[in-house]
Amino acid sequence: MRSLFFFILIFISIGVAAAEIKLPPLHHPVGVKLAQGMEPPEAFVLGRQSELICDTCHGVSDLEKIPLEEVDSSVEDFLLQGPYDSLTTFCYLCHEKQGMERFNVHLMFDQGGRLDEQRCLYCHQESPEPEQVTDRSQLKFRLPLENLCLGCHLKTPHLNTLAHQVEPSEEIREAMKKAEEKHQIILPLDSRKRVTCVTCHTPHEQGVIDSDRAGGKQVADHPVNEGIGYRDDPWGGVYLEDKKVRLAGLQQTLDKTIELPAYRRIEKEILLRLPAKDGSLCQACHQFQE
Ligand code: HEC
Ligand code: HEC
Ligand code: HEC
Ligand code: HEC
Ligand code: HEC
Ligand code: HEC
Repeated sequence: MRSLFFFILIFISIGVAAAEIKLPPLHHPVGVKLAQGMEPPEAFVLGRQSELICDTCHGVSDLEKIPLEEVDSSVEDFLLQGPYDSLTTFCYLCHEKQGMERFNVHLMFDQGGRLDEQRCLYCHQESPEPEQVTDRSQLKFRLPLENLCLGCHLKTPHLNTLAHQVEPSEEIREAMKKAEEKHQIILPLDSRKRVTCVTCHTPHEQGVIDSDRAGGKQVADHPVNEGIGYRDDPWGGVYLEDKKVRLAGLQQTLDKTIELPAYRRIEKEILLRLPAKDGSLCQACHQFQE
């Protein structure tokens, strides 16, 4: 499955050069014709030669004319007929589920339990030797931190991701510093000093980075290949009430209305720097009134 994603990389380099339309890094190929048996929904119009054009997948007119940094991807039909619950739901509108199983880059050990260096190269320019990395600022990535996850994950994989993509206030930065010391963790910000995916998540499977190091402290209740575990919980309602109270406190602090999502209780957490289910992660930056 790894090859699929390399294909995307190759396609973009070719695609961008040929079409001279600026596409974001890791973008899906355009200008290609439907493969045999592919039957996108009717609304997904094709170009004159039955090729993929911007309007095939996007509901924003003249998208190709909008400068990249001005594109608003938060509109509902940015992906046509969206929003979708996950990126793969969208992919399966054209691709067969079979053979499209997603390559889980977070599984970083091979069958023999050795680090698979190829995996590192999705994000790192060179495979780091974990013991030899003493200064994180020396690491070179293939994309700015804030874009590393987006070829494979949605920009809004869950509630509040966009709201978090901001530069924290001084008060929050202070809280972060304290939390880093108290829990001996890192809460890295992106190239523009904003909260980003890896502020809360570590991309590394447990064991890649020594757990004695701040960068290697992480929650791993579960094997990575099993994903996050949810539970329909008879106590769900009680939990929700509890969360409501705490969120109400947060709401006061932020002076904003916060919508509660239909809440599924998280039972097993992975790839997080601190547990969220008991509130520790959120409390690294927010104060709840208890
Ligand atoms: C096969 C479907 C498909 C086609 C065709 C397509 N796109 Fe996309 N595009 C996507 C997907 C999927 C994303 C990622 C959306 C996400 O992660 O939320 C995306 C993301 C983007 C983004 C990034 C927006 C952002 O800020 O995150 C831009 C810009 C974009 N596309 C422009 C274009 C342009 C211009 C064309 C035509 C030349 C085009 N796309 C054709 C599927 C497509
Ligand atoms: C509107 C239909 C459509 C949608 C939606 C779509 N694709 Fe594609 N995709 C195509 C077509 C057409 C091609 C080129 C023909 C081919 O290679 O099968 C292609 C090619 C690819 C390739 C190149 C490798 C290969 O098999 O040749 C990858 C990887 C890929 N798509 C992944 C995705 C992912 C991931 C998504 C969801 C984000 C997605 N596609 C959504 C139509 C689509
Ligand atoms: C999905 C992207 C991604 C992949 C894949 C990835 N890394 Fe990283 N890595 C990052 C990011 C982002 C950082 C900086 C933030 C951090 O330290 O967690 C980082 C940091 C590191 C650090 C410094 C950690 C510290 O705090 O001292 C080491 C060592 C490292 N990576 C090793 C590896 C190795 C070895 C692999 C392959 C087995 C790998 N990484 C795969 C994204 C990735
Ligand atoms: C403020 C902290 C925070 C930030 C920032 C954040 N996440 Fe999350 N993420 C979480 C928590 C907590 C969960 C646990 C499950 C939940 O509550 O949905 C999670 C869950 C996930 C999941 C699993 C969703 C599921 O239902 O299986 C994915 C994938 C994910 N995050 C990716 C990302 C990506 C990609 C970004 C950046 C665009 C990001 N996260 C930014 C805290 C964060
Ligand atoms: C090469 C593709 C790829 C890249 C790049 C990538 N991921 Fe993932 N990630 C996956 C796949 C595949 C899964 C397994 C679950 C799924 O299919 O969504 C996953 C799972 C996760 C999960 C756990 C959700 C679960 O329930 O399994 C989190 C959290 C997550 N990724 C965060 C990140 C963050 C943060 C980054 C960027 C630093 C990132 N990912 C980069 C492919 C990728
Ligand atoms: C690394 C720091 C950090 C962590 C961890 C964090 N947040 Fe935030 N959060 C922020 C910042 C920064 C904002 C932007 C508003 C501000 O500056 O107060 C924000 C805003 C919010 C908002 C308001 C959104 C809006 O619409 O304005 C909510 C709700 C929220 N966070 C909930 C959570 C929850 C729940 C968690 C735990 C899963 C969490 N946060 C973890 C830093 C963080």
